[in-house]
Amino acid sequence: MTVQEIQQEILRMKKEQDVCILAHAYQGQEILEVADYMGDSYGLSVQASKSNCKGVIMCGVRFMAETCKVLSPEKKVWLANPTAGCPMAEQLDLESLRKLKAEHPGYAVVAYINTTSELKTECDVCVTSSSAVQICSKLDNDKILFIPDPNLGRFVAEKLPEKEFAFYKGGCPRHIIVSAQDVEKAKKAHPDALLLVHPECRQEVVELADYVGSTTGIMEYANKEFIIGTENSIVEHLQFACPDKQFYPLSVMLTCMNMKITTLMDIYNCLKGTGGEVIELQENVMEGAGRCIHRMVELGG
Ligand code: 13P
Ligand code: SF4
Repeated sequence: MTVQEIQQEILRMKKEQDVCILAHAYQGQEILEVADYMGDSYGLSVQASKSNCKGVIMCGVRFMAETCKVLSPEKKVWLANPTAGCPMAEQLDLESLRKLKAEHPGYAVVAYINTTSELKTECDVCVTSSSAVQICSKLDNDKILFIPDPNLGRFVAEKLPEKEFAFYKGGCPRHIIVSAQDVEKAKKAHPDALLLVHPECRQEVVELADYVGSTTGIMEYANKEFIIGTENSIVEHLQFACPDKQFYPLSVMLTCMNMKITTLMDIYNCLKGTGGEVIELQENVMEGAGRCIHRMVELGG
């Protein structure tokens, strides 16, 4: 089958079965072309809670499919490729979180959405990169334990000097790969380009950026020439969307293999009933993580 034939079959089957396809923006162009919605983690969560189809195929990583299931318990939710996990989401387990909480009594625990559902059951609220500042500012508590990404945490803390923050030493293994030296090299190669980076990047990179924001924030930024400091699919999508502008990757290393593992055939196999993983979560996880995720949607709106 050709890519076009697979896409046609996917479009036919999803209509027949009343299934919608949600894709994180780090997915490839061929997947975005069959998706009903493409966006960042917050956008995907909102979409998952308001879509009225019978099933949802999540093209992204495991925590995104779990979030979708928690927000839409009545729907059949697939993770298109069961091996797609987010390494950052697996950095902290319940036992280490409990220890961290005991070391920080009186702190509100704010979890980046890139965490497991199990971990979310013992956190106060979760946030995404596009909603973190807003949600943290709305919390009554002035002391915040931010897990697991200290880079995003520090970005939020700088915007909210009135609050006291504590961090866990986690982080995205992709975004922390780029350094100030990469920025220097990219700016030398493209002196007129603006540098747009994700807050998961290191502080030394964020400090040199013209704009820091979520996947959607970066995609909405308007100018002529850009160096993109986040996952490299965004470079490709922006080039398709704005052919008259120029986009350059900050580093060829900024490719998330976990996001890239999902293929068109994974979606096709979900719809055929021969692949994907239908997400099932225990009742206590649905309830506990649900409290945390629903609060995020409520406060981030
Ligand atoms: P966004 O919410 O900005 O899409 O970030 C998700 C992610 O995994 C970034 O690496
Ligand atoms: Fe996880 Fe980083 Fe990949 Fe995002 S880019 S899914 S945070 S490993």
